[in-house]
Formats: sequence, structure tokens, C-alpha cells
Amino acid sequence: MNIRASTSSDVASIVALFTASVHQIAARSYTPAQLAAWAPESPNLGQWCSRLAILETLVAVLDGEIAGFISFAGNGHIEFLFTSPAFSRKGVASRLYEIAAQTLRARGVRSLSTEASIEARPFFESKGFNIVEEQVVERNGVQLKRFAMTRVCGDKDAQP
Ligand SMILES: CC(C)(COP(=O)(O)OP(=O)(O)OC[C@H]1O[C@@H](n2cnc3c(N)ncnc32)[C@H](O)[C@@H]1OP(=O)(O)O)[C@@H](O)C(=O)NCCC(=O)NCCS
Repeated sequence: MNIRASTSSDVASIVALFTASVHQIAARSYTPAQLAAWAPESPNLGQWCSRLAILETLVAVLDGEIAGFISFAGNGHIEFLFTSPAFSRKGVASRLYEIAAQTLRARGVRSLSTEASIEARPFFESKGFNIVEEQVVERNGVQLKRFAMTRVCGDKDAQP
């Protein structure tokens, strides 16, 4: 698996992966109306470019295909972490998370945070994140449950 920084030519693939991941993986935990509101079938690429422009994004490439991506802010907030349904439970998100966490830690960031979906909660729990609060957010007029989670990295922490 090759992990590299994303480029502007990856945006269409990233958005397609996001849409497939939400509709196939997160479909276990959300209703069809919630999935459609979260990841519209006709995404606005311009809006995505603006959102990604203020974040750092890493992509995992497997067999010549983008298998997952992570986007994070300089303050340690993980905005997106998505794996392609074809590569689910093969360690793609773990590898992306490890590299992002190491990068942030090397810059002195001591606390990571995210808003995890119901589906992503066990992943982040497996990385040592704790739930701060359960939240309900509105996307395109539909309510979605998610969890604000954080992980504080100690000085002697062996893990990222
Ligand atoms: C959450 C997500 C990113 C995990 O990606 P992944 O590449 O499959 O994760 P990994 O293979 O690295 O999983 C590492 C560990 O996390 C835990 N984990 C991941 N998904 C899990 C699930 N659905 N249920 C329980 N544990 C899970 C397991 O401990 C797993 O280790 P194991 O496979 O050896 O048991 C992926 O399922 C996804 O894209 N989900 C849909 C979209 C979404 O909700 N994204 C996050 C938005 S906040």
C-alpha cells in the first residue's frame, strides 16, 4: 500500500470513493434518506475542492486504485476518513490514520479529534479515542447521529 499526499487531480476519485463508502459501508447504520442527505449522488465538486483546500489529505493507493483517504487540519482534527467498500477491513484506514497521527505528533500536536459516524465509532475506539458527546447534525434537512471523539497523546505514548 502506497500512502501519498493527494493532488488536485485526485478530487473526483476522492469524492466518488466518499459517495460509495457512505452508501455501501455506512448503509448498515443509517436510513436511505440519511445516506442521500450525507452523500448526494450528484456531489458538488466545486464545494469539495473548497473543503479540501483548507485540509491536508493523504490517499492510500492499492493495486493502482485509491483505496482510502484521510483529511485533517493542523490542529489535529480529522475531518474525513473513508475506505473504499472494495478494500474494507484490510487495514487501509489504520495505515492512513497512523501516518496522519505521526505527522501531527511530529509537529507538536498532542490531541486528536473527530466527529465519527456510527459506523466509524468502533474504528476510532480501537485507536484509543473516547466519546466526548453524542451529537445530532443536520445535512440537507435530514438529521444524522454522530460522536465527537478525542484522543490525547501522552509524552510516553508509543502509539500515534
Ligand atoms: C470506518 C472506516 C474508515 C474503517 O476503514 P477500514 O479500512 O475498514 O478500517 P481498518 O481495516 O483499518 O480497521 C481497523 C480496526 O478498526 C475496527 N473497525 C473498523 N471497522 C469496524 C466496524 N465496522 N465494526 C467494528 N470494528 C471496526 C476493528 O478493530 C479493525 O480491526 P480488525 O479488522 O482487525 O478487526 C470505514 O469502515 C468507512 O469508510 N466507513 C464508512 C464511512 C464512515 O463512516 N467514515 C467515517 C466518517 S467519520
